[in-house]
Amino acid sequence: MRILILSDIHSNLEAFEKYMELAEGRYERAVCLGDLVGYGPDPNAVVERLRQVTDAVIRGNHDKACSGLTDAGDFNLLARLATDWTRKQLTPENISYLRSLPEGPLVQEGFQLVHGSPEREDEYLFGAAQALPELRKATFQITLFGHTHRQGGFLMHAHGRFQTIHIPPAKDGLVETLELEAGARYLINPGSVGQPRDGDWRAGFAVLDQKAKQVEYYRTRYDLAVTQTKMMQARLPEPLIRRLELGR
Ligand SMILES: [Fe+2]
Repeated sequence: MRILILSDIHSNLEAFEKYMELAEGRYERAVCLGDLVGYGPDPNAVVERLRQVTDAVIRGNHDKACSGLTDAGDFNLLARLATDWTRKQLTPENISYLRSLPEGPLVQEGFQLVHGSPEREDEYLFGAAQALPELRKATFQITLFGHTHRQGGFLMHAHGRFQTIHIPPAKDGLVETLELEAGARYLINPGSVGQPRDGDWRAGFAVLDQKAKQVEYYRTRYDLAVTQTKMMQARLPEPLIRRLELGR
């Protein structure tokens, strides 16, 4: 099975649509690791489109806050402003869909989905300090995670050596193929569709190929100016508009 992995779309419809165009014909089913909404200008359209293409979705911290399950009290001011705006935009149907999303880990055949970490959906796996303990106690060969908006991930080889998965800068399309080793354990981050923070503004995604035993990482440009114009018209905070082009 070829599984398309989506994460951290953050109401960015242009990035999402461009991504789905590039992914066309490259997958058999699609899963989402949360943060469908928050920050961007198209929460309803993104939720509705996502529901059409995915068959397994977990919630992220922004989905909880934007649907009113939490009060966004731990968000910074800009994230809180965007959360309040998103809450007002969402239709009742989309709010109840977001509220109904399960918390990870969500177990699938041969892998699991989490938003932050297997322990806590709000935990950031930035480096060895957080990732290594998770890999040591992992019961799955493959855990798919998001939340950091950084494409790549971590692995522990069968003999115990830890490694960070670095994705080199490359042209649009398939940028890296990771061969999965028997006996190794993986934390795979597909990157963020709608608000990358790894220094590359292009939408990131990944495909897990279970038969070929590999993960393919992709990047694609999208019409960023359209997203930014919509954000300006919605009067979303300026730094959130600028950060999209910086990939920060
Ligand atoms: Fe996120």
